[in-house]
Amino acid sequence: MSTFLPLADTYGRVHRDLRVSLTDRCNLRCTYCMPSDFADWLPSETLLTTDELMLVIEVATSLGITGVRLTGGEPTLRPDIVDIVRRINELPARPEISVTTNGIRLVDLAQPLRDAGLKRVNVSLDTLDRDRFKALTYRDRFDDVIAGLRAAVAAGLTPVKVNAVLMRGVNDDEAITLVQRAIDEGWRLRFIEQMPLDAGGQWSRGEMIKADEIFTMLSEKWTLTPVASRGSAPAEEFSIDGSDVTVGIIASVSKPFCAACDRLRLTADGQLRNCLFARDELDLRVALRDESLSEDERRAEVERRLRLVVADKLPGHGINDPSFIQPARPMSAIGG
Ligand code: 5AD
Ligand code: SF4
Repeated sequence: MSTFLPLADTYGRVHRDLRVSLTDRCNLRCTYCMPSDFADWLPSETLLTTDELMLVIEVATSLGITGVRLTGGEPTLRPDIVDIVRRINELPARPEISVTTNGIRLVDLAQPLRDAGLKRVNVSLDTLDRDRFKALTYRDRFDDVIAGLRAAVAAGLTPVKVNAVLMRGVNDDEAITLVQRAIDEGWRLRFIEQMPLDAGGQWSRGEMIKADEIFTMLSEKWTLTPVASRGSAPAEEFSIDGSDVTVGIIASVSKPFCAACDRLRLTADGQLRNCLFARDELDLRVALRDESLSEDERRAEVERRLRLVVADKLPGHGINDPSFIQPARPMSAIGG
């Protein structure tokens, strides 16, 4: 028997979380993610098949990955997402499965996903105003998202997390109303600092709303007390007025949490990334499709490449370095 060697990088960070993008397509066009006329889609023959995805996930979980998050684009646009969740749930390692989604399709999918073994969902919602939602996403789907969130709560995909990105002059007057709505509906809200990942290249360091500013805005209404954070979790959680209800602030830019990062990413076209902001990707698809390899050799090659990409991980994302260069691919192609 070989000794179990976890996926540790040269800084000692052990990788336990794999984010798998199921598609780069999306049914919204959030302005900070995709230009409204975005057309640079991945060619379909480059997308990993479900069997290919499953092989990667199976090998990764045998190397100590304990959490698998399905992302996109919009992961629920993948027609067999329920089946994928079921197959992941049947793996011997039984990883925790979660999905990051815009919520639109949860009305139909929350219960089937839950029945297939999904544990939790993160839903993106930046505004509670229907017109503003339409302006922000180029689609009139606000009601579907709210209905989807309610379906997720009803299906027991709890705690249902809601991610909100505040943007100056766009929705920065909604910090308090978003939290209040989350309290009323039983969502766990987290604000995420806007990161330089948009395909439109509109991100601006001077304009972005930082964690401290969000804290100050919320403190006008509530007393926020820090709650002990959990290991590699990026959100700083605060209890609201001493209650059990919390709000999270993810300070990806102003207070990077790279030192505790345990995440690894697989893009829909089979490229491994060790960071959202990595400049390089490692091609797994070529190994998965190498017909000269036997099944066992293919597995061994997937393992070798998983170890390589982890070994190559830099200590941090470097967003605050003068030499920082935005990744070539937008968030929708990398996978949240
Ligand atoms: N900065 C911060 N968050 C982003 N998201 C998408 N693009 C960005 C960005 N540039 C969020 C989405 C979703 C999650 C996958 O990441 O709102 O909640
Ligand atoms: Fe779609 Fe998510 Fe990008 Fe919005 S942020 S356009 S929901 S992939």
